[in-house]
Amino acid sequence: LTDGPLKGRHVLVTSGPTHEPIDPVRYIANRSSGAQGTAIAAALRDLGARVTFVTGPASLAPPEGVDVVRVETAAEMADAVQAALPADAAVMAAAVADWRVANAGAQKMKKDGSGQAPALLFAENPDILARVSKGANRPQLVVGFAAETETVVAHATAKRLRKGCDWILANDVSPATGIMGGTENAVVLISEAGAETWPRMAKAEVARQLAARIAAALG
Ligand code: C5P
Repeated sequence: LTDGPLKGRHVLVTSGPTHEPIDPVRYIANRSSGAQGTAIAAALRDLGARVTFVTGPASLAPPEGVDVVRVETAAEMADAVQAALPADAAVMAAAVADWRVANAGAQKMKKDGSGQAPALLFAENPDILARVSKGANRPQLVVGFAAETETVVAHATAKRLRKGCDWILANDVSPATGIMGGTENAVVLISEAGAETWPRMAKAEVARQLAARIAAALG
């Protein structure tokens, strides 16, 4: 392990999308690349932390030098996160599917020639961030994300309280910002102290600044 301010600390990072099966060969997904979560895991590693990186099926390779746990569904991610605790800090950057398919087929769904399309039923997935924040094994510092398209600070401030995390990194993902799928991010750090607007910068630099703040908070 690298020497650094997070030496001896264990940090859990979630990243990437989740895939929710429709049947054995089909799934519902989202457009998360895992770029910001991967950069955060690398930045924490560079400060000496032992990092457990729980990742959904992202297009980007996980960073070197972290403990990678690969999952597919939100339910698997929830289990992997519980298994990774205890941790000194948790950064939940994954784009977890809000719903899974409740009537997923055990076999590939077939056209039956009637012209009738199947109907999918959805069930709500566990909120992993809220569980970690409110659970018995709560890390000292829990950081969540909020991707918003309007009233960013108000929505993220409410989200911080609802989920019970310490910090929320909120960003405006309206198409005009070019942030989603881009290399830069413009975030607001919401904490008990209020909202702190960071200048627009590379996602790798957001990761470095966040890792430094985590190191300072853990002391
Ligand atoms: O409620 P919303 O999805 O906007 O909250 C985003 C934050 O909550 C992110 O930190 C995300 O990783 C986390 N989350 C979670 N489990 C869910 C949904 C969101 O951990 N089921």
